[in-house]
Amino acid sequence: MKELVLVGAGGHAKVCIELLRAMGKHVAFCVGAKGSPQQCLGIPVLEGDEHITRLRSQGYTRIFIAIGCNQIRNRLADLAMKQGYVLENAISPRAVVSPSAKIGHGVAVMAGAVINADATVGDLSIVNTGASIDHDCIIGRAVHISPQTALAGNVQVGDSAFLGIGTTVVPEIVIGHNAVIGAGSVVLSHILAGATAFGVPAKHIENK
Ligand SMILES: CC(C)(COP(=O)(O)OP(=O)(O)OC[C@H]1O[C@@H](n2cnc3c(N)ncnc32)[C@H](O)[C@@H]1OP(=O)(O)O)[C@@H](O)C(=O)NCCC(=O)NCCS
Repeated sequence: MKELVLVGAGGHAKVCIELLRAMGKHVAFCVGAKGSPQQCLGIPVLEGDEHITRLRSQGYTRIFIAIGCNQIRNRLADLAMKQGYVLENAISPRAVVSPSAKIGHGVAVMAGAVINADATVGDLSIVNTGASIDHDCIIGRAVHISPQTALAGNVQVGDSAFLGIGTTVVPEIVIGHNAVIGAGSVVLSHILAGATAFGVPAKHIENK
């Protein structure tokens, strides 16, 4: 079936639905948590993850996971892929993506984002509104690069890391998997896996 299932029914889902519409893709159903609103931008919302399985048995094969939380997005994508769904991308026609960039599956790239030459963006990652990822950056799986974040060239970001809104990262930095970088930070040195860091310059919280 050509129509998509979209998992999520919150603010991030709204943005992704509009991206998918701008790409000419049609979302048939949203799957939200119990207690979600009945509709999301006019699309009916089914409550509970069990609908992912039910819709697959009805012939839906294409899915987009529109959940901002990296860990939940990763978990639900694993569930969907085990059932044979294919992960769609939602890439704004108003994003600039280099022809030499490598973009995975299930990726969201919002309006105004720029992904430059030879950058890699892993499966399930989000490159949010106006973020820029410069040449040769390597972004892992299920990463969230928040709005207006700027990564200089050759930055590496590990799986499931979260970079808060307006983060700036200088060239060659390595940010470990599951790291959290606070809003407005300027990252001048490597960030350990699992660490939370913020500030100008960004410091690991225990070093604050
Ligand atoms: C870094 C962050 C994850 C920490 O969250 P938290 O653990 O709940 O921390 P708290 O809000 O309890 O703040 C703890 C202290 O750190 C300070 N702090 C928190 N985030 C900060 C930041 N980004 N820059 C500078 N100081 C910060 C707080 O002012 C507070 O200071 P205090 O103890 O002197 O009062 C969070 O503040 C943040 O920046 N999140 C980014 C959210 C975002 O960008 N979302 C975009 C989604 S698209």
